[in-house]
Amino acid sequence: MFIVAGNWKMNLNSESSYELTNSIKSIETKDKVILFPPFTYLSLVAHLTATTNISLGGQNCSEEEKGAFTGDVSSEMLKDVGCEYVIIGHSERRHNHNETNELINKKLKRAHDSGLKVIFCIGETLEQRESGNILNVLEKQLEEGLTIDSNVDNTIIAYEPIWAIGTGRTAKIEEVEEVFDSLKKTYKNKILYGGSVNEETCKDLKKINNLDGFLIGGASIKVDSFLKIIKNI
Ligand code: PGA
Repeated sequence: MFIVAGNWKMNLNSESSYELTNSIKSIETKDKVILFPPFTYLSLVAHLTATTNISLGGQNCSEEEKGAFTGDVSSEMLKDVGCEYVIIGHSERRHNHNETNELINKKLKRAHDSGLKVIFCIGETLEQRESGNILNVLEKQLEEGLTIDSNVDNTIIAYEPIWAIGTGRTAKIEEVEEVFDSLKKTYKNKILYGGSVNEETCKDLKKINNLDGFLIGGASIKVDSFLKIIKNI
């Protein structure tokens, strides 16, 4: 099933989360829709989507199980409020919070132990792309970040070139296919593309060979854009 995942990042409020979720709920689609609201609105969205096929996920989780970790949210807590998924290794966490492959690996293990499925993000900077180093960079993120128990059932890979996230600059189909072809040789997991996917760019991006879905930021909080992507129009 084609996956359309919406990462709301640190956006919206209770009213707009309510409205957006209700609009998404009303759409009939064969796609697998997964919403990643901020922690504060997870319960609200869980409640609104309870009788639908829409799945819910957290944007991050702690590597710790529980205890004195002020401000952190555990994978068990995500599970408890109805999450099935969690995003781990997003470039904004890697860069803004200095998350290393080692830390990401611990988070992933903790998430799996709690029974969550992980959307595991990888991606290269523009500098790394220009130095022709992409596949090595991605391979290192995967080798050091994935755990031994990561498999096709509990881990989805999301390839998001950092230079394409929130910039309006999408990767070319050939650029993504080069990465996907290489990843598919080693990993049997589903692979998503992310980076400036919107109602316009998605038409072309859908042609990517072996594409299992999209991880969408900016366009996932705009009702019209997200609906058009889901409806394929
Ligand atoms: P974007 O974000 O769609 O706004 O580029 C994608 C992401 O960060 O997952």
